[in-house]
Amino acid sequence: MDKTIVDQAEKLRLMVRDRKKTAQILAVTSGKGGVGKTSVAANLAICLRAAGKRVVLVDADLGLANLDVLFNIKSRYNLAHVISGRRHIDEIIQKAPGGVKLVCGASGLAEMAELTSFQRQRIIQELSTLESQADIIIVDTGAGISPNVLAFCESADHTLLVATPEPTSVTDAYAMIKRLSQSGTGVKVSLLVNMAQSRLQAKNVYQRLSMTARKFLDIPISDAGFILKDERVPESVCNCEPVVLAYPRCQASYCFLALASKINRGSDRSALNDGFFKKVVNWFF
Ligand SMILES: Nc1ncnc2c1ncn2[C@@H]1O[C@H](COP(=O)(O)OP(=O)(O)O)[C@@H](O)[C@H]1O
Ligand SMILES: [Mg+2]
Repeated sequence: MDKTIVDQAEKLRLMVRDRKKTAQILAVTSGKGGVGKTSVAANLAICLRAAGKRVVLVDADLGLANLDVLFNIKSRYNLAHVISGRRHIDEIIQKAPGGVKLVCGASGLAEMAELTSFQRQRIIQELSTLESQADIIIVDTGAGISPNVLAFCESADHTLLVATPEPTSVTDAYAMIKRLSQSGTGVKVSLLVNMAQSRLQAKNVYQRLSMTARKFLDIPISDAGFILKDERVPESVCNCEPVVLAYPRCQASYCFLALASKINRGSDRSALNDGFFKKVVNWFF
């Protein structure tokens, strides 16, 4: 690829990330697919909204966009229209259940699975225009090490890396951390263990992965905690309703609330020193 274009894209990413702003961008990603990114992004968005934050949720999984299905929303326009320049992102925002604002993804468009550098720049620039109407922008990025996913993580203030306790998921999460650490953009990563059998199991996964990342990659990984495995999650997906709305008192919903509260606590604490939501690095401590 043309080096000038790559350099320009890099500059833009850093510009978007480091600019003084009110909203923060949280990328939700994973090494392996099917680990619960979409479930986490949607339920976390609803919990943060319930806590009073203005939340925009963006379905940027360009291969398998499905937040619209989870929220049971039909949208005439989606990210494909933004990428092609036919719509601005603020023109396609939908009101979703739970008070969340949703930007629907572009599912099933094979040609969009990998964007050109120019198209990626366009989305990232459009995302930054949402900052005035949100406190937090949550981006469901899709899985795996691809230029699209990496670009979203590198542009975000913080990356929430979702993994399950399965060895394959943990290995793929490590590969993702490795790739992010090589980007040289100072990406901040927190690990969320989803579908955990217990707190102890999740803690073990976190400790193993964070120790290995510190030792071999020299990158600190924050602990975002865990979401318990709970059959209410797939059950609610089948009913096209996020679990925190369908079953607010189930185990998984309590975990989502705890995660949102952890994020809120961190953001409120940093607000005292640095303006609202600025020091996102503190979110998960
Ligand atoms: N905590 C959980 N407990 C049980 N099942 C879960 C949990 N989180 C997600 N799932 C299920 O796992 C499947 C994949 O989740 P999804 O959010 O679509 O993953 P991804 O976006 O990473 O591909 C879905 O069927 C979902 O219902
Ligand atoms: Mg998904």
